[in-house]
Amino acid sequence: MGALHAEAGRFESAEASFCKAALEDPTCSEAHFNLAVLFLENGKADRAIEKFIKVISLSPDISSVHKELGETIIAYEVPHFDSKTEFKDMSALNSAIASYRDAIDAIPILRECHRNIGEVLMKKGQYSEADTAFAKATKIPHDLQEVFHNVGATIHCPGNLNNAVSMHRTVMAHAPDYEGDEISEQSYLKTNLTFTDSEILLPDGFEVMMEWERPIMERSAEMITMNGGDVLNVGFGMAIIDTAIQAYDVSTHTIIEAHPQVVRKARAWARDKNGINIVAKRWQDAIGDIGPFDGIYFDTLMPPMIPFLRESYDLLKKGGVFTFFQMMVQFENIEAMANTELNFVLERMPFKAVEKNRYYRLLETDSSGHYSAPLLIYRKS
Ligand SMILES: C[S@@+](CC[C@H](N)C(=O)[O-])C[C@H]1O[C@@H](n2cnc3c(N)ncnc32)[C@H](O)[C@@H]1O
Repeated sequence: MGALHAEAGRFESAEASFCKAALEDPTCSEAHFNLAVLFLENGKADRAIEKFIKVISLSPDISSVHKELGETIIAYEVPHFDSKTEFKDMSALNSAIASYRDAIDAIPILRECHRNIGEVLMKKGQYSEADTAFAKATKIPHDLQEVFHNVGATIHCPGNLNNAVSMHRTVMAHAPDYEGDEISEQSYLKTNLTFTDSEILLPDGFEVMMEWERPIMERSAEMITMNGGDVLNVGFGMAIIDTAIQAYDVSTHTIIEAHPQVVRKARAWARDKNGINIVAKRWQDAIGDIGPFDGIYFDTLMPPMIPFLRESYDLLKKGGVFTFFQMMVQFENIEAMANTELNFVLERMPFKAVEKNRYYRLLETDSSGHYSAPLLIYRKS
């Protein structure tokens, strides 16, 4: 009855029917699930989350529920971030993250389960059933962690294996030489870089920084200078964000840069500017002696990134804003940031199509095919 009402657009009656069903049989996952979907469609994200959590507690094996819950990040999206933007309570997102992590962690176990079932069935002589069980096991990709880590890790498809795998395949088809982000920081810092007008390149042509990222850098500079005061940028690169920061009224502007060639460029750039402090170290060796800041940007390209995200809370002053560069909303980053207790919103900055390059494929497109750069913005309350 509830489904019929919902299909006919009679949402209040649908809600009443599903509530009645849930009351009569509190273990009825379907009733709770349908209520959650109704709440979500009517913009009641908090109530939807409550219901999704209920369904997960009743039926933890329904992967689409983990997916729906993960998608609550949508509730954190703002059209355009500014100083008046209200940050949302993180507790719902934290539950979504924990649930998604459970779903990911459960997958290798699933594969084992199918395989074990197959073996049992084989021993019993039920060969065709065993075949089906083995087939199910092989459908679960072996390199799942990698898939999620490198390309499939958007929060938009948590728990959605098919989506993650197809995304991974598309990426591999476009860039068969892509080997993930495994560039060691140690070897990078000793590498001879080439600087052109529009790029910084490694000897093998790998791009460290590109001119086309300018709009993302300029928007990020606008965000982190919102409070004025003391601003930190980690990773000087092509001076794009630092030049943008200079256009705002800040008291001090600290730049951490570790590559000796880039440090020389940074010092030359800073010569005719005031209030700039260049810290020529790896951020790992620098952050103990600096801060706190009113605004922080982080973009080193090289891993490790997550340890910096974890430090961001201590590096910020009250009210301070932090954002960092990433091509797509990456689950691991959201997860790391959730533990910092900073408040969070997401802006998907519209982005003009750019020339083809190795990173471009990771930018998000909306339903009409327009590109956007996902900016996760954090503030210390
Ligand atoms: C992608 S570029 C930054 C681009 C910059 N946001 C801009 O607007 O031009 C990354 C920079 O981080 C620097 N870097 C890499 N690892 C670092 C580390 N551990 N500490 C400090 N800087 C680092 C690199 O040398 C490089 O200059």
